[in-house]
Amino acid sequence: MHTETQETKISLFMSEAGSQGKKVRIYFDGQPLDVPDDVSVASALLMSGVRTFRSTPVSGSARAPYCMMGVCFECLVEIDGRPSRQSCLTQVRDGMLIQRQEGASGLNMQSAEN
Ligand code: FES
Repeated sequence: MHTETQETKISLFMSEAGSQGKKVRIYFDGQPLDVPDDVSVASALLMSGVRTFRSTPVSGSARAPYCMMGVCFECLVEIDGRPSRQSCLTQVRDGMLIQRQEGASGLNMQSAEN
């Protein structure tokens, strides 16, 4: 008996909500990305194909999220001008500005007070 199989492209980072959920627009390194409104920044970036979130201060090697639960600190990015934000613990918001973090980040006291 021959049965038709439907090939479906499945990604590890697909949203369970699929395309039925509401979307928000975020910006990663200036590029607009339309992502589900109920996911973390790390999930949204991974779903959008981003694979490098930051580089290390010493060797400059590329890093990306690992634990997705706030333990490893591999997912650090700059969010709305604030450096070293854990993207796996931050929910996306419409208009959010996210930057890849290159090497060590400086401490911006003005943005830290907000
Ligand atoms: S992925 Fe490990 S702390 Fe965010």
